[in-house]
Amino acid sequence: MSKKISTNTVPQEKSNAEGLGSILSLTPKAIVKELDRYIIGQALAKRAVAIAMRNRWRRLVTPEDLQEEITPKNIIMIGPTGVGKTEIARRLAKLTNSPFIKVEASKFTEIGYVGRDVESIIRDLMDQAVTMVKAEMMEANQARAAALTNEKLLSLLLPGFSKTAEGEASGNRTLEKLKKYLDAGELEDNEVQVVVDKPSERTQIFAGISLEELEKSLNETLSAVLPRKKNKRMVTVSQARKILMQEESANLIDQDKVVEEAKKRVERQGLVFIDEIDKVCIKEGRSHGPDISREGVQRDLLPIVEGSSVSTKYGMVRTDHILFIAAGAFHSAKPSDLMPELQGRFPIRVELSSLTEEDFVRILTEPKNALTRQYKALLSTEDVNIEFSPEAIAELASMAWQVNEKNENIGARRLSTIMEKLLDDISFEAPDIAPAKVVITPDYVKERLADVVVDADLAKFIL
Ligand SMILES: Nc1ncnc2c1ncn2[C@@H]1O[C@H](COP(=O)(O)OP(=O)(O)OP(=O)(O)O)[C@@H](O)[C@H]1O
Ligand SMILES: [Mg+2]
Repeated sequence: MSKKISTNTVPQEKSNAEGLGSILSLTPKAIVKELDRYIIGQALAKRAVAIAMRNRWRRLVTPEDLQEEITPKNIIMIGPTGVGKTEIARRLAKLTNSPFIKVEASKFTEIGYVGRDVESIIRDLMDQAVTMVKAEMMEANQARAAALTNEKLLSLLLPGFSKTAEGEASGNRTLEKLKKYLDAGELEDNEVQVVVDKPSERTQIFAGISLEELEKSLNETLSAVLPRKKNKRMVTVSQARKILMQEESANLIDQDKVVEEAKKRVERQGLVFIDEIDKVCIKEGRSHGPDISREGVQRDLLPIVEGSSVSTKYGMVRTDHILFIAAGAFHSAKPSDLMPELQGRFPIRVELSSLTEEDFVRILTEPKNALTRQYKALLSTEDVNIEFSPEAIAELASMAWQVNEKNENIGARRLSTIMEKLLDDISFEAPDIAPAKVVITPDYVKERLADVVVDADLAKFIL
């Protein structure tokens, strides 16, 4: 992902926005432009999320007393399956370096019932942010960690080396030479002894029960308390470098700082994607059985969306300014079937449209991660170069669209099954036909797929 987007940004001089990085000052247009690189169409949804993102930056540069009053404008995305709802949210989070979590509303149950409680969303988000910040800090410390690792490697190498090659030489001179060899990569296969932590074997506590949070924290407590087993191992220098690098990078990191930064990031930039929100809607005139629990899920979601403190193992996390994006197909239920309080917290509604045949053509070729590119890259590792003629792409799009029409409409996901079927033979034969260049023509597409596409029953199983 492009982290260094500097075009179309606004200078950030206000101190409140400090630490958010220039990413958050991306203009709405710049955000949409970035999203366009991955997602075809859906302009309205892109626009809405871009505005919501921008508003977070705007909030942080408003006067402080007002800041607390400004709540994020949460979004409901309405649209059929496989048209890009989740993809937009995921890309947005990546683009802005925001902690992101996707949950399914239907997976949650009211507190006290079997299932996960909604507060675990925030705990997971916080875990995610900690991992993210840690990785960033490790990356930032890489040069220092590498230098320390080299020093350690030298001291590990020295005993053996001075005995053999440079027995009589003075310590200093040996070290110098050793350093030269090491830097030149000439000692990579020499063996050294390193001490590694042996992860203490953990038994599954409370396996199978949904007390996963409890289990997690118990395991962590135990592994912190139990003595770590140390193992001495002979490894090559190149392996030792990896092990030591890991250790040194971890040592350089200040855990308190990580947590502090992670918490700030969750509270200011966190993004929670709640899928299948329509599944917890209650249709009018029914309020028995499962509906009671559905309403319970909505009621539990409310405080988190409205803003509350959630206790995590890193301390309390406030949810006031976390952005929530809910999504659903809303075939039978409507957004107005949600609890009124929840409706008010999701004031922005955007509809995503069904994808057309032309969209499919573009999805197959334009995005950075387009399927045709993926397969090309995969097969080129075997020295098989595949080319798709434009007519073949058109044929593929048309077939995908037909299958969606005849059977279930699963949106762009259909392209994955079609492509897999199309390239099934080539994928299997690749090592035997390499080196080769294969041009995928409309005839080839028809030959491989026509039978299946025409036979609706067959398509149900294969595509
Ligand atoms: N507009 C689009 N442009 C490019 N790729 C798309 C688009 N829509 C969907 N895709 C592709 O299809 C896959 C599925 O899309 P996505 O996960 O966003 O569906 P969704 O709308 O969230 O569906 P669901 O309601 O089933 O969750 C994505 O991984 C993406 O590769
Ligand atoms: Mg989805």
